Amino acid sequence: MTVVTFFEWLRGLLRRPATAPLGLRQLAIRRGIDVGFAVEDHLLRQSVFANAIRRDATIITAENAMKMGELVKARGTYDFTRADAIVAFARQHALAVRGHTLVWHLQQPAWLQALSPSELRQAMRDHIATMVGRYRGVVKYWDVVNEALSDSGGMRDSLWFTALGKTYIADAFRAAHAADPEALLFYNDYQVEGLGAKADAMYAMLKELRAEGVPIHGVGLQMHLPLDEPLAMSDLRTNLRRLAALGLVIHITEMDVWVPLPATQEKLQAQAAYYEAVLRTCLAEPAVKAIVFWGVSDAHSWIPGFFPKYTAALLYDEAMRPKVAYERVRSVLT
Ligand code: XIL
Repeated sequence: MTVVTFFEWLRGLLRRPATAPLGLRQLAIRRGIDVGFAVEDHLLRQSVFANAIRRDATIITAENAMKMGELVKARGTYDFTRADAIVAFARQHALAVRGHTLVWHLQQPAWLQALSPSELRQAMRDHIATMVGRYRGVVKYWDVVNEALSDSGGMRDSLWFTALGKTYIADAFRAAHAADPEALLFYNDYQVEGLGAKADAMYAMLKELRAEGVPIHGVGLQMHLPLDEPLAMSDLRTNLRRLAALGLVIHITEMDVWVPLPATQEKLQAQAAYYEAVLRTCLAEPAVKAIVFWGVSDAHSWIPGFFPKYTAALLYDEAMRPKVAYERVRSVLT
């Protein structure tokens, strides 16, 4: 009798998981990749977010705090408070940091507009040297140039392109490399995940930069995905493979899956399945080394503000409960 009871007790003990299920952080470490989120410094000061990052992330990106317009409101006067707070949090919790972003056409300071082309080129180089130099050895990955291509695959008519021509891109990478030769330098863009005119244009541009010996090491695929315009997995796979063949590291840099209003249980299930399919396809390619989600919870996602017909794009709901999407991402990483 006693013996049976003992075996029952032992069996119960073995069946019970020894600890709580592993968070995404431990799963990512086991796989040898980085997983994480875009963050804001004020959210990191809330324990519910800080705990989620500690549990689920090996890497973070500043959602806004490292953009030029946020840092350098007046020429020559930097305010590093928010960027430094994010970097300090990362150091404290042994997280890698993606620096986002050095050269972009949005969230630019107004004073840039008044510069002559030669002053603008110098301002770009100075900004890159300042940022990459300040965080040298800590920010391992930089989105050096963000969204330089137009939606049809030409060069975007940004201030940079209009004043400097397309040489600003190679110039930016060279300046970043000079400031931190160890950092991995990325070109980052959206709607370049599958195949199409813009993805082809990006591929051609990256190929040319590599052939010219420009210090560019990676490509960031933002992966902002509306649920009702699904990406073909075969196109994604083909694109990932051709980019990898250029010798580039691939990061998924800003992933979110937008649910068309209203967010029903059915659509949230479909969202979870889509997260899973995309990440499975990405992680099958050894060149894909990091997955970053563009925020932690639906309460702070940029999507409803920018695309009002969509909602609920992230892994945690507005009350910070893990969604079914979280569970599916977990199972992909397991
Ligand atoms: C977005 C932020 O999420 C918003 O908070 C901000 O108001 C605008 O920018 N591509 C990028 C990101 O590279 O920097 C953008 O982030 C989203 C699209």
